Amino acid sequence: MDGRKVMLLTGASRGIGHATVKRFAREGWRIITCSRHPFPEQCPWGGGREDHIQVDLGDPNATMEAIEEIKSRLDGRLHALVNNAGISPKGPGGARLNTIDTDLRTWGQVFHVNFFSSIVLARGLQEELSAAKGAVVNVTSIAGSRVHPFAGAAYATSKAALKALTREMAHDFGPMGVRVNAIAPGEIETSILSPGTEKIVEGLPLRRLGQPREVADVIWFLCSDASSYVTGTEIEVNAGQHV
Ligand SMILES: NC(=O)c1ccc[n+]([C@@H]2O[C@H](COP(=O)([O-])OP(=O)(O)OC[C@H]3O[C@@H](n4cnc5c(N)ncnc54)[C@H](OP(=O)(O)O)[C@@H]3O)[C@@H](O)[C@H]2O)c1
Repeated sequence: MDGRKVMLLTGASRGIGHATVKRFAREGWRIITCSRHPFPEQCPWGGGREDHIQVDLGDPNATMEAIEEIKSRLDGRLHALVNNAGISPKGPGGARLNTIDTDLRTWGQVFHVNFFSSIVLARGLQEELSAAKGAVVNVTSIAGSRVHPFAGAAYATSKAALKALTREMAHDFGPMGVRVNAIAPGEIETSILSPGTEKIVEGLPLRRLGQPREVADVIWFLCSDASSYVTGTEIEVNAGQHV
């Protein structure tokens, strides 16, 4: 074990998660990553392969089993947990799945990945987070607070629940010295975006898509000492989409 700070990041293989790995690696942190696929050979970073855990966060038993594996790789301290993995299923032809046509199994799967995995990991690693006076960042969405033309009802409700969970966790983890916050991205240039997003972007105050690194910078802020008195809040990272 070395003296580096350690972050556990879910959904690190692409998009916002990938940019977050790069941001924290630049700051000298060790990053333990989780996603369904094996470590991507085309994008290695220092210690990446050894610090990757392959787990399907949509499977609650697999998520609970992964906790032991994660603990065994820590020296008793976890400085940041970033719950970033997320799915946004679509209907045939990319159609939005609404409250009437979303299959209950799909709805449950979305909640396991987007919502339950966050509390299962945080609860399972509470001793390590507490020992490091660590920070938790939950990645929510603009879709958690308003109907979105592309994000479905299961996705939107899972993100609204994750925002509420952030508040509840801040209350319960605060006495351990652990801060819990959320970030709510708007339209960020990743594979999760749908065709037609250009129309939304035309109406944003800043008139442009966000870059994954701009989200990673806010995650960094919430895990750093610069936000040492901030907990239980959600920061919008969306070019003013919420105004
Ligand atoms: N991009 C946006 O505009 C936007 C807007 C608002 C909110 N967000 C949120 O930001 C977060 C990251 O989004 P992104 O756009 O970067 O997404 P992305 O490019 O689709 O990446 C999603 C990540 O989650 C992992 N993942 C998906 N299902 C998983 C599962 N069952 N178990 C473990 N890992 C899983 C994926 O890795 P594997 O495929 O290897 O599992 C991947 O690393 C998500 O929570 C998303 O809801 C994004």
